[in-house]
Amino acid sequence: MLLSMEEFRVFEPKKTTYALFGWPLGHTMSPALHAQLFAASGQDADYIGVAVPPEALAEAFTLARQKLGGINCTIPHKKAVIPLLDEVDAAAHDLCAVNTIAFREGKAIGYNTDILGVAESLKRDGITPRGKKALLLGYGGAASVIAHYCVSQGAHLTITGRDMDKAAALQKQLCDTVPGAQVSVFSRRHIPRDIQLVFNSTPVGMFPRENAAPLHFLPHKTEYVFDAIYNPPVTATMKLANPRKTKTRDGLFMLVMQAAHAQTIWSGVQFEPAACETILRRTYGQLAAKRLHDKHGKQNIVLCGFMGSGKTTIGRKLARLTGLQFIDADQYLEEREGKKIPDIFAERGEAYFRDRESAYIRELSQRSGIVLSLGGGAVLREENVHAVKQTGLLIHLDTPFYRIVKNLSHSVSRPLLNKPDKQAETRRLYNARKAIYHRVSDFSVRSPKISETLEQLVKSI
Ligand code: S3P
Repeated sequence: MLLSMEEFRVFEPKKTTYALFGWPLGHTMSPALHAQLFAASGQDADYIGVAVPPEALAEAFTLARQKLGGINCTIPHKKAVIPLLDEVDAAAHDLCAVNTIAFREGKAIGYNTDILGVAESLKRDGITPRGKKALLLGYGGAASVIAHYCVSQGAHLTITGRDMDKAAALQKQLCDTVPGAQVSVFSRRHIPRDIQLVFNSTPVGMFPRENAAPLHFLPHKTEYVFDAIYNPPVTATMKLANPRKTKTRDGLFMLVMQAAHAQTIWSGVQFEPAACETILRRTYGQLAAKRLHDKHGKQNIVLCGFMGSGKTTIGRKLARLTGLQFIDADQYLEEREGKKIPDIFAERGEAYFRDRESAYIRELSQRSGIVLSLGGGAVLREENVHAVKQTGLLIHLDTPFYRIVKNLSHSVSRPLLNKPDKQAETRRLYNARKAIYHRVSDFSVRSPKISETLEQLVKSI
């Protein structure tokens, strides 16, 4: 739930409620994320967003003391909220930024859990900054958090950005608060060549202008790229990396972990790493559902690909992750016709099946909010492609052939493969169709493993 200041004034919480204060609030993921964390830890609590303009922060803060269990602050309140607090914890004090506030025994206490989110995201990727040469793009709120973590862990940090004075101000802040800080400032043209870790903390590359990157290429020794942006989940900066030598990470795990740590501060709950991983996967799914609308202007996700490529299995899992409804086009047809597909082929022939298939695809394309798995031959008819693309993003599961053969080895429900040499027929049809799947789909995903295909698919939307 997102509230305006007017709505927040009259808001009456029904249970313990926490809130995010920001301006503008935009489409924040935080209410959905905190709802998942409440569910995972068995808490009966609510989380709302409040669009608090800068001039209303003091009033909103007074109301929060009366109505809320705690608050998170985002841009532009992280610094401005500090004078309103009774106490500020040491890390937040050094960072000059507070993102989490707890109300305890009449006192408002400020913390910074963003830095814990950065720390855990890097640890999860096995990155230790000590002794590494790190490059930081940007000097704003997220930059200061990343910079403090890297410098306090012993990295040699280079800060760059458009405004050298702001970069120098962050350098000074680091040198004043972190003993032995190793920080330099360079213009983008003079970035040291031996950089190993690259951090983007600028908003360059964020939806909707996601083709922009703050750099044109990465220093050639780059081992790791971290982008604090999570929408899109694969940013233009991350795409600069050569996947064979450079690992990349977006900002979503950091977001999940800063939220988990905020809840630990508020109520003492602790989260299992496995629960955080599940929440991360679901949040990528929710983000994919949002991008389906915001970026692609579509309501449905439609899967195509050869028989045995995993459309039904992956479609069902994808529906669970995105919160959309799963429909398998073949199953739908069988239910509506009251007959199994091999029987339809045997009794009425393939032409009849194809006509019914087209009719049901037309019907299903009128729906909204579904993951639709198509039969392997459905996209051979242009009219079917046209119908599904009206409302859906068409994704091709380009599963490797050996995997398809394995998946089909025990299948008796594919009448087209009822030939003396099943494998030869599978290969012949596969070769005849492969290019069509590539041509008609919006994009393809390829992996022999279901979990990898699913992850790739969700992050490609
Ligand atoms: C077909 C694929 C089948 C089913 C029918 C025809 C095809 O669906 O629609 O047997 O032409 O490839 P699956 O791809 O789900 O096996």
